[in-house]
Amino acid sequence: MKKLIGPFAQVLPLTGLPLKGALKDEQLQVIQNGGILINNGRVVIAGSFAKLRKDHPSAEIIEVEGDHVLLPGFIDCHTHICFAGNRAKDYAMRLQGKSYQDIANAGGGIWDSVTQTREADEATLTELLVKRIQRHLADGVTTIEVKSGYGLSVDEELKQLRAIKAASTKTKAGIVATCLAAHTLPMDFTGTQMEYLRHILDELLSTVKKEELANRVDIFIDATAFNEANASNYLTRVKNMGFDVTVHADQFTVGGSAVAVKVGAVSADHLEASKEKEIKLLAGSNTVAVALPGASLGLGMPYAPARKLLDAGASLAIASDWNPGSAPMGDLLMQAAVMGMAEKLTNAEVLAALTSRAAKALNLTDRGSFTTGARADIQAYPCSDYREILYNQGKLKPLILDR
Ligand code: NIG
Ligand code: FE
Repeated sequence: MKKLIGPFAQVLPLTGLPLKGALKDEQLQVIQNGGILINNGRVVIAGSFAKLRKDHPSAEIIEVEGDHVLLPGFIDCHTHICFAGNRAKDYAMRLQGKSYQDIANAGGGIWDSVTQTREADEATLTELLVKRIQRHLADGVTTIEVKSGYGLSVDEELKQLRAIKAASTKTKAGIVATCLAAHTLPMDFTGTQMEYLRHILDELLSTVKKEELANRVDIFIDATAFNEANASNYLTRVKNMGFDVTVHADQFTVGGSAVAVKVGAVSADHLEASKEKEIKLLAGSNTVAVALPGASLGLGMPYAPARKLLDAGASLAIASDWNPGSAPMGDLLMQAAVMGMAEKLTNAEVLAALTSRAAKALNLTDRGSFTTGARADIQAYPCSDYREILYNQGKLKPLILDR
């Protein structure tokens, strides 16, 4: 049964926008007094509400009261929300001037979340994860990538990935799982980086494939995590197994983005330390540059050079990095709005970074715009002009319309 939803003060279909480079607001198609026709959870067409009503007299009409602006649901292409416990202690130490690395060396950091997450069973983890997913969904985030990476052993990584799979059956949000067993060298592994990565390749990834737990693999490349040579070998083998690959790159030290481009990663995420050389490399590639303002806010560090990346011609997505350590807030729209002002990104650039370009970062072609046949993931903000969305810096909350 077809449904016609509307009328909306404005509809932004976000179709036809280039996936790379700078965007002007004039490039956005804005349908005044619009509506959207959907069928079985898929977009048929967005257009004038009055015309759609006339052309589709048999469609069920879902009337929306008051002024709203309709746009595709946001896609958060980078999160670590499958965790137990918290790291408020780390946050307090950072407020006192300690660095992320100092805290990790003092027994905090990622390893602390690994310890806390290992203590939770799969059902508890699933429950915690579903709560975070539902909070994100209420904020208009209809597709959420979720990484493992707080297990760091074969069984514990499988527990996390199974929790992510279980959570995906308990929500209307689309969930995309990523295996981040290469988050950091686990403190209880007696061997080298290379031996650990080989162990993951030999003992974990075939089960991940067999149980269809994830089709993406991530690695943290940094002076404090995995080096470029080991990461490059790992990712090449991972890609040969048929996984998409993505990289935590250039967060504190550069080098990760070059590996990401070399191996054809779908995205290189973080980039706070990227300079002209890395910007040029990313701009000349098909790898999406993912900025994570939540990590900059959580660590008190500079933003990724988003303006420069766009001007150089890169594809820019923005994600929350929601995690218990560096990015505990998890408010994607607020973070994108605030970084947008600091970096001077247009409305079009920020909205594309949260939709069509974030879909590209996840290698998904069925969402992120109102193209015919796309998933009808839709959200409507209570305002009459789309520019009010970023202007309210995350305080305007959307209506989530059922497909
Ligand atoms: O993306 N940089 C590595 N990983 C995460 C942080 C995870 C944590 O601190 O628990 C990040 O910022
Ligand atoms: Fe991250």
